[in-house]
Amino acid sequence: MNPMSAIWKPAPTNLELHQGDVHIWLATLKPTATPPSSFRSILSKDELERADRFHRQENRDHWITSRGLLRITLGNYLNSGAADIEFEYSKHGKPSLLASQGESLPLSFNLSHSGPHMLCAVVAGERELGVDIEFKSRNLDYTKLADRFFSKNEVTALKRLSRQQLRDGFYNCWTCKEAFVKAKGNGLSLPLADFDVTFLPDRPAKVNKVEWHPDEAGQWSLTRLGLGSDYAGALAIKGKNRKLKYWRMDDSADGL
Ligand SMILES: CC(C)(COP(=O)(O)OP(=O)(O)OC[C@H]1O[C@@H](n2cnc3c(N)ncnc32)[C@H](O)[C@@H]1OP(=O)(O)O)[C@@H](O)C(=O)NCCC(=O)NCCS
Repeated sequence: MNPMSAIWKPAPTNLELHQGDVHIWLATLKPTATPPSSFRSILSKDELERADRFHRQENRDHWITSRGLLRITLGNYLNSGAADIEFEYSKHGKPSLLASQGESLPLSFNLSHSGPHMLCAVVAGERELGVDIEFKSRNLDYTKLADRFFSKNEVTALKRLSRQQLRDGFYNCWTCKEAFVKAKGNGLSLPLADFDVTFLPDRPAKVNKVEWHPDEAGQWSLTRLGLGSDYAGALAIKGKNRKLKYWRMDDSADGL
């Protein structure tokens, strides 16, 4: 096992989600013990229709497995059947539990996929949070992409990195930005160049500055996640002092 992945532990059977805890789950979507077809029975009609719109079988299987694992995981926290969970979607597509009228949500979650991996963060109550996982490609023009997507300060910081640091720096920045965008839930309507994150390897990740409000950056916590040398990941959550716990849904962390 890669030492970076040692943080991911098998979850105890009597798992409890306390206020202030953030549980982060890592799963493999490769058909292992459970074939994707066995998750179909717990997916809703609209989820099955969405799954069947994937042309490639591998993508379809990954999506079915990911939605099935999400339902099972949330069902365990909520003490309810995986098939009974109902989702709703924001206008930008962010899923959440369906809110009963007048009641606040028992938990909030966000998830991300990359290749055969899925990352999912769960927190008690109604909280803004986002996660991102990305495979760290070696064949990209990192500085050209940074010029296109990152803020001026981020581009300047990235260009100061050595060639050896560039790939890690780029993906640290990318996943931190993406996790923040996902936590806010605005999708790509949030201009990526209008906020800065700290992403340098020797500094804790942080939302530094947002253009649209002078106080907002300080309200967020950003954490880089240890996912081995080929993947980068980040969690963004509103508020401070969260206690992070890293669980794996299966043997997936072994392969990272
Ligand atoms: C849709 C988006 C939220 C994430 O897309 P992505 O990186 O392709 O996908 P991820 O695997 O990280 O996340 C997908 C999951 O996020 C969730 N999601 C969907 N819309 C979301 C939104 N508006 N906000 C937060 N989460 C969202 C869903 O659970 C989705 O999984 P599902 O389809 O299985 O339900 C959006 O931010 C996007 O398109 N980003 C483009 C990437 C980009 O240009 N990034 C630049 C970073 S510098």
